[in-house]
Amino acid sequence: MGAGSLTDWDSGLRKPKKKIVTGDARDTGLAANSADLVVTSPPYWQKRDYGHDDQIGQESTPQGYVSALMDCLHEWKRVLRPTGSVFLNVGDTYYKKSLVGIPGRIEAAAVDNGWLIRNRIIWTKDGGMPEPAKNRLANRHEYVIHLAPKQSYYYDLHEYAETYGNGANPGDVWHINPERNMSAHLAPYPQELVRRAVLLGCPPQVCNSCGSPRTRALERTRILDPNRPQARRAMELAAEAGLSDDHIRAIQATGVSDVGKATKFQSGTGRNSKTVQALAAEAKEVLGGYFREFTFAKKVTTGWTDCGHCTPSRGVVLDPFVGTGTTLNVAVSLGRDAVGVDLVPMVDQQKPLVVK
Ligand SMILES: C[S@@+](CC[C@H](N)C(=O)[O-])C[C@H]1O[C@@H](n2cnc3c(N)ncnc32)[C@H](O)[C@@H]1O
Repeated sequence: MGAGSLTDWDSGLRKPKKKIVTGDARDTGLAANSADLVVTSPPYWQKRDYGHDDQIGQESTPQGYVSALMDCLHEWKRVLRPTGSVFLNVGDTYYKKSLVGIPGRIEAAAVDNGWLIRNRIIWTKDGGMPEPAKNRLANRHEYVIHLAPKQSYYYDLHEYAETYGNGANPGDVWHINPERNMSAHLAPYPQELVRRAVLLGCPPQVCNSCGSPRTRALERTRILDPNRPQARRAMELAAEAGLSDDHIRAIQATGVSDVGKATKFQSGTGRNSKTVQALAAEAKEVLGGYFREFTFAKKVTTGWTDCGHCTPSRGVVLDPFVGTGTTLNVAVSLGRDAVGVDLVPMVDQQKPLVVK
């Protein structure tokens, strides 16, 4: 597999497109291996009545609800390519004065069915609907569970960290306020939530022949975060001593342990490991403890993998509870194709719903 730019393939791509199918999330009728990511929000247990015999959410027990969602996951696994994953937005429900623990029940059942729970993201928000209870706090968060059928799912943490600017290790709490156009009875979720999930989990391009997503090739630079005092000091020391790019690369190759990845560096430059270690030792002498800063310097994209088949298509986002179509709109705006499924075509959702 080689590497190239995204534009190598862009020329052969048509505009991103949306498709909406009327159907059941448990039996979508979509082709196997036809989507790269599911981003969706099912009806929450015992909340809104969508007035359809096959709807999910009105089961009499939490067990019945979780079982219906497991049928959904089974179907989505079939529709997803092997590199796919699912971002599932769910909330909990108070029943007979107690939280039922819906998100935890979904996670436990999914793990029992062979899924990997990669994250339980907490979506926090300010404001929200007033709640009448006087002996508990108002609920101001929901969950976005990230599930994968296999370990080898596509994930672009680099793009996410660049977009949201929160360093190399962004956290699992998303603060996203509801959008002004979010009508309570249609229950759309915020575009921002979908955007984060798509950037993380849906490849911009996939090969039509073999189905492999193009993934980002990254290389470490010597650029450090100027907001960190230790990083600024490390850069000053390196500049004062005139450390070369080879010195910095030697530090990055040997790492903290002094042996670590030296072989990788060696093959990349043709230098032998003795030279690499000597360069690293020189650099460490100058930098003291600050050398560590260069082992987590900023990475840049050098290209995108290319499977060699050159039959481009866009990554595909599926929302099997598509509602008003938030997911599809965001996916298309990010250059992905999008497919939505819903029992009730969007136009019918303008009628008032029974909200419990
Ligand atoms: C919470 S809403 C989704 C809102 C959507 N995220 C948006 O931004 O508009 C849930 C949707 O699931 C649909 N639905 C309920 N049961 C379903 C089923 N078994 N299969 C497919 N869709 C279903 C409802 O018609 C409703 O549109």
